[in-house]
Amino acid sequence: MKLNRFYFLFFFSVLQLFSCNEKQLDITDFKANVLKSTTLSVDQKVSLLLDQMTLEEKIGQLNQYSGFWDFTGPTPEGEEVSQKIKNLKNGMVGSMLNVSGVEDVLAVQKIAVEESRLGIPLLFGFDVIHGFKTISPIPIAEAASWNLDAIQASAQVAAKEASASGINWTFAPMVDVSRDARWGRVMEGAGEDPYLGSKIARARVTGFQGDDLSSPSTIAACAKHFAGYGFVEAGRDYNTADVGTSTLHNIILPPFKAAKEAGVKTFMNSFTDLNGIPATGNTYLQRDLLKNKWNFDGFVVSDWGSISEMVTHGYAKDKKHAAQLAINAGSDMDMESHLYVTQLASLVKEGKVSEAFIEDAAARILKVKFELGLFDDPYLYCNTDRQGSIVGSKALHDSVLDIAKKSIVLLKNQTNILPLPKQGLRIAVIGALAADKTSPLGNWTLAADANSAVSLLEGLQNYKGNSIAYAKGADVAVGKVGFVSELEINTTDTSGFKEAVSLAKKSDVVIMSLGEHAMQSGEGRSRANIDLPGVQQELLETIYAVNKNIVLVLNNGRPLAVQWAAQHIPTIVEGWHLGSQSGNALAQVIYGDYNPSGKLPMSFPRSLGQVPLYYNNKNTGRPSPVNPGEVFWTHYIDQKNTPLYPFGYGLSYTKFEYDTLLVSNTYSDNKQIEVIVDVTNIGKRQGVETVQLYLKDVYASVIRPLRSLKGFEQISLQPGETKKITFTLTDNELGFYDNQGNWLVEPGSFDVFVGTDSTTEIKSTFKI
Ligand code: NOJ
Repeated sequence: MKLNRFYFLFFFSVLQLFSCNEKQLDITDFKANVLKSTTLSVDQKVSLLLDQMTLEEKIGQLNQYSGFWDFTGPTPEGEEVSQKIKNLKNGMVGSMLNVSGVEDVLAVQKIAVEESRLGIPLLFGFDVIHGFKTISPIPIAEAASWNLDAIQASAQVAAKEASASGINWTFAPMVDVSRDARWGRVMEGAGEDPYLGSKIARARVTGFQGDDLSSPSTIAACAKHFAGYGFVEAGRDYNTADVGTSTLHNIILPPFKAAKEAGVKTFMNSFTDLNGIPATGNTYLQRDLLKNKWNFDGFVVSDWGSISEMVTHGYAKDKKHAAQLAINAGSDMDMESHLYVTQLASLVKEGKVSEAFIEDAAARILKVKFELGLFDDPYLYCNTDRQGSIVGSKALHDSVLDIAKKSIVLLKNQTNILPLPKQGLRIAVIGALAADKTSPLGNWTLAADANSAVSLLEGLQNYKGNSIAYAKGADVAVGKVGFVSELEINTTDTSGFKEAVSLAKKSDVVIMSLGEHAMQSGEGRSRANIDLPGVQQELLETIYAVNKNIVLVLNNGRPLAVQWAAQHIPTIVEGWHLGSQSGNALAQVIYGDYNPSGKLPMSFPRSLGQVPLYYNNKNTGRPSPVNPGEVFWTHYIDQKNTPLYPFGYGLSYTKFEYDTLLVSNTYSDNKQIEVIVDVTNIGKRQGVETVQLYLKDVYASVIRPLRSLKGFEQISLQPGETKKITFTLTDNELGFYDNQGNWLVEPGSFDVFVGTDSTTEIKSTFKI
């Protein structure tokens, strides 16, 4: 202990000498003795490093550039690229995004480390949203697994593959709660519920970061988009978010808090404004709440260009003002606005920005670099052997297949068509998506190869016992598929119907794969209609007219309003965009090699007019008609209030029975309530059930939802087997946030519901 202190003081005094004359700093010694010291703490090293940095170099740490070009090939011409490279050499860049692959990352890291004065390594950020090259299901699909271990494992696998490709920071998880199926980015989140969303946020952060960030297999995570982005008005991406305080504190913020508590290293703010203040310039969110109240010691990155967009919002008078507002509000790193690097130094000199804010932001960023092990070895994530053996390996594919199976939700199996026998059937497979090998990858697959997923058709063909024939029937959309392409939804071409009809007529079963192409959800891909795009509804009805034995496999990135299908089609499987192993996962469910266990993380509406639709709504003063035919109660005159498929819903090939609830009313003794239920598998197959617990605080000083998820447990049961499930409710489950963001636990009556989905009527009551 004494020795450590001695060394620290010794080095510190040597450094003081160095800092009198910057040119004399021997960076090799400084790195070896200070930056790589095993005795100094990270905070001490950060502070000693900051002492060596000029204001401009500190600002450089706050600057993030995108490098959308091949760094091992010829450099593209143009002023912007040459400025970026110049700044890399000058130590004016703290991080790059969109540079991946060991060769490219190494080339750029070398510039920073070997050509800049202090040689500070860069962070390499990338949107590793659901896998890197080997793709797992889109996040909303993974959320449908309700399997926290599998979700954590999926993030871990993604981190392993991305880190083997040079990446050390992912812009994930997106923890935005959303209730609006029109918003294209619901595919990227965990759905509508803050409790499930918080558990999943924790699982994903832990999966990416592991318990040792300096291991070459783990990467820093980023909780985004802080905050309110999931509440864009009318579900239109980038639109304004106007949110009441109760919803902000009880619905939107909890998953962010959970991510913080799980140790997430970074946050990303949002393009959007929250109640009139852009998130990027929002002091309440970033400084008051996140950094002060929650004590977050990582850093906040802006969203792409969101600092300069504050001018367009009408919040900043010009770009320089935008930089001032953003840094003062607590946005630490500038993603691609290029404003910190150009404006902050003069803002400091003019006294409009305190140097302490720059120093604090730089310290936060440097700290993460130290924690990632980059000062010990800037090329830690640049091992070509590792890249070769890990990226795309069989082990990764096995792992994404596992979570893909668990993400599938059986919505209807009326006549028990499923599981299909493995022999003797003539099966027609219809729908463009069934043969598509790109769409199953889903949106946000920047590093994946097009055409690399196992299609549904291929997955079915891997089972050899039945005869399988395919007809496209119709396209989902027309247009080029790609990251920046537009897909026209309203294709009108029905010329393939005839072939599909004739195939359906001579088949025993028709498997139809309908829904959305991957590029019809995701960022910038909101929809004003949430039915089956193009002529797919017409195709479905046409085939139904000749063969009613249909298994409808939905592939989609959002809840769809498929009321006609729910009424007519006997069997519906929610197959989302399941990633690289999509077709194999679906085939295993269709043939019964995996008994479906998924549950919806978002309500499916009957029609678009119900949106935003969510299960944890408040009661209102006029909840149900007092008399038949009554008009003045909260309802539509042309649609039910209830969803088509509720939150938490999903069937199995077996059946589960719930016994009466037992509630111990002992809150006054030890401040906790126990809720006990027996669950039995009364069917003939092993199955997995997610037992869900919902609470209703009957009256409170701020109105509480009719029910809120406050516990769930996933169990596997053999036929005839019973398991006793005990939920323990503490103040963490019993309380809520008031409109000032204070946590309250109020005495009074509670209803508790336990069951198979959010509509369960298995109920008991207790008091606290
Ligand atoms: C914009 C998106 O909103 C954000 O989520 C993403 O991480 C960045 N672009 C970087 O690609």
